[in-house]
Amino acid sequence: MENTERKPIVLSAIQPTSVPTLGNYLGALKNWKMMCEDYDCLYAVADLHALTVHPEPAKLRQQTLEMYATLLAVGLDPEKNIVFIQSRVPAHAELAWILDCYTQFGEASRMTQFKEKSAKHADNVNVGLFAYPVLMAADILLYQANFVPVGADQKQHLEIARDIASRFNALRGETFTLPEPFIGKIGARVMSLQDPTQKMSKSDPNPKASISLLDDPDVILKKFKSAVTDSEAVVRYADGKDGINNLMSIYSCCTGLDYAAIEKEFEGKGYGDFKVKVAEAVIEELRPFRDNYKRLMDDKQYLLDTAAQGAEKASRIANRTLTKAKKKVGLLLG
Ligand code: TRP
Repeated sequence: MENTERKPIVLSAIQPTSVPTLGNYLGALKNWKMMCEDYDCLYAVADLHALTVHPEPAKLRQQTLEMYATLLAVGLDPEKNIVFIQSRVPAHAELAWILDCYTQFGEASRMTQFKEKSAKHADNVNVGLFAYPVLMAADILLYQANFVPVGADQKQHLEIARDIASRFNALRGETFTLPEPFIGKIGARVMSLQDPTQKMSKSDPNPKASISLLDDPDVILKKFKSAVTDSEAVVRYADGKDGINNLMSIYSCCTGLDYAAIEKEFEGKGYGDFKVKVAEAVIEELRPFRDNYKRLMDDKQYLLDTAAQGAEKASRIANRTLTKAKKKVGLLLG
């Protein structure tokens, strides 16, 4: 992918945590997959970002491999997209240092996520946590990305990436493309099955609240059957019906039906029928993922080889930008 066709460039990344949820899938990963026709896409496993919380080393290695397999298993074709592991492309850490020097202490201090995370983990407020958005800016700017699909919680980080890029460009001359957030077409915000006013999260202590992409079909069915709804017993999308709205949104994402069509399909039927149908649609939607994931995790060598190729392709693009930035700031090149 040398961008000869000049399609807009898309970059996104995901941290190597445990298996993603249905929320991560419908809200992000499914969109990533659909973008490859219209954009030149790069997708990374952000293992360097994960270091900020001091994961156990063996666990980080394993989760990095699992997340890489997850990206391939959701259908990101490594021939059509550049799928790579962040730390395998040294340019990320190198550009991050340069950009650190073009980021103000004050603006980094204002990041909501930094404030939240440092309040939550007061015993480990490391400099990496502080510089987290600068590394993220490097991820994006190295590839001259035009669009970055991100969730609401990462919007502020994208804004600081733009601010850093425009400051650098203004001081040192045009170097970086200013990235824009990409709001997905289907862009579902999947809510907890137990408290539909909260986002579905894999860290939810109640296991019934979220669906993991690797849940067995019977577990998925059980979780949907116990999903919180309301007492109206009419399948319709409306204010105050958060539980049903969430299920309708999930069903819509999996079947492609709009809300009117869903309301029609379940006219005169109870929530019991509806929940089973939603569960079945999700099970079908996730079936190829489960099969692919299992096959990939059984072939570690394939994953390692593909990751090496991804890193090589990414490096070729990243190094062009890195060299440009090094020249602009006055580093002596050979
Ligand atoms: N910080 C992002 C998250 O936690 C992950 C990430 C790292 C990212 N680098 C990125 C997202 C670059 C978009 C672009 O979700």
